[in-house]
Amino acid sequence: MTDSTRAIVIHETGGPEKLVWESVPVAPPGPGEVVIRHTAIGVNFHDTYVRSGLYQTLRLPGIPGIEAAGIVERIGDGVAGLAVGDRITYIDASYGAYAERRVLPARLAVRLPPGVADDVAASLTIKGFTASMLLQSVHRVRAGETVLIHAAAGGVGQPLVRWAKHLGATVIATAGSAEKLAIARDCGADHVINYREENFVDRVAQLTAGRGVDVAYDSVGASTFLGSLQCLAFQGLLVNFGQSSGPVAPFSPSLLATRSNGVVRPMVFHYIRDRGALDAMAAQVFGAIEKGILRAPTITRLPLAQASEAHGLLESRRSTGPIVLEP
Ligand SMILES: NC(=O)c1ccc[n+]([C@@H]2O[C@H](COP(=O)([O-])OP(=O)(O)OC[C@H]3O[C@@H](n4cnc5c(N)ncnc54)[C@H](OP(=O)(O)O)[C@@H]3O)[C@@H](O)[C@H]2O)c1
Repeated sequence: MTDSTRAIVIHETGGPEKLVWESVPVAPPGPGEVVIRHTAIGVNFHDTYVRSGLYQTLRLPGIPGIEAAGIVERIGDGVAGLAVGDRITYIDASYGAYAERRVLPARLAVRLPPGVADDVAASLTIKGFTASMLLQSVHRVRAGETVLIHAAAGGVGQPLVRWAKHLGATVIATAGSAEKLAIARDCGADHVINYREENFVDRVAQLTAGRGVDVAYDSVGASTFLGSLQCLAFQGLLVNFGQSSGPVAPFSPSLLATRSNGVVRPMVFHYIRDRGALDAMAAQVFGAIEKGILRAPTITRLPLAQASEAHGLLESRRSTGPIVLEP
């Protein structure tokens, strides 16, 4: 029997006010599906791109949200390895996480170890997986390398700094306020730069005695991209993995020839396409949480019904660390 739940629905793209709290149906789980009762829903910058229309990847009207933790409530036919009551987390590139309850393909669900609380999972599934992808797959960071990390006090930035330090890198971190620089330092950054007040290209040149960094992790996009390129050492790599300040403008590949540099634009979804890769990534990230390599961050919590406030906060540049919606 179909029942109902409450969810955030987008009918048309636009500002945070386009996130509407309403009642929606929840179908019974089909074969290979489970019904999840969410306990914590991760807010990601991706959600703001979907809401604004920058990404036209959610069919409207639709329920946004790509990550949540919760409890298995019902199980469809043919589902193995999950039981009613299991605590799980997931990433779903097809959306639907901004809801109290939902039907989910069971193949996406990852059971949570006892040492990882639901809100920590909702803070560090996408963000921790992204850090793992960036530091171990896109470029394998080795001890002694120097890395530049922008927006270092953000949801992805904090685990990225912590993990890069654990791997033995020297971390140069940028952030937009004194409070954020203190957070980046607390995560282990060796050098911090307020890139709203200082020229980060000049500071990186000074800090590396003109050598540049081995890798620049740039999620800020428009306002930092060309500067990040200028910060690279010979054969250094620019990893552009986001666009918090806006999309990167077209550029000439000949810019890369100055120091034989590379540019890559990875998406975490592509690194967990098959179940083996998903399980390996989950084991790595949840293992890092249990070992204390990734510490439970300070979480900003808001009721799910106030998702528009969460988006406003993230886009205003006032947030630090992860934001979690509570159903
Ligand atoms: N490619 C992937 O697979 C993947 C996966 C996850 C996340 N991401 C990307 O990673 C980035 C971080 O995501 P998040 O959810 O953790 O967000 P976040 O870093 O917590 O928030 C974004 C931060 O970007 C900085 N920023 C710089 N210019 C900005 C501007 N004009 N407007 C707003 N923010 C600006 C701000 O920090 P300062 O004040 O310190 O500048 C802001 O706090 C996003 O770009 C997201 O799309 C990519």
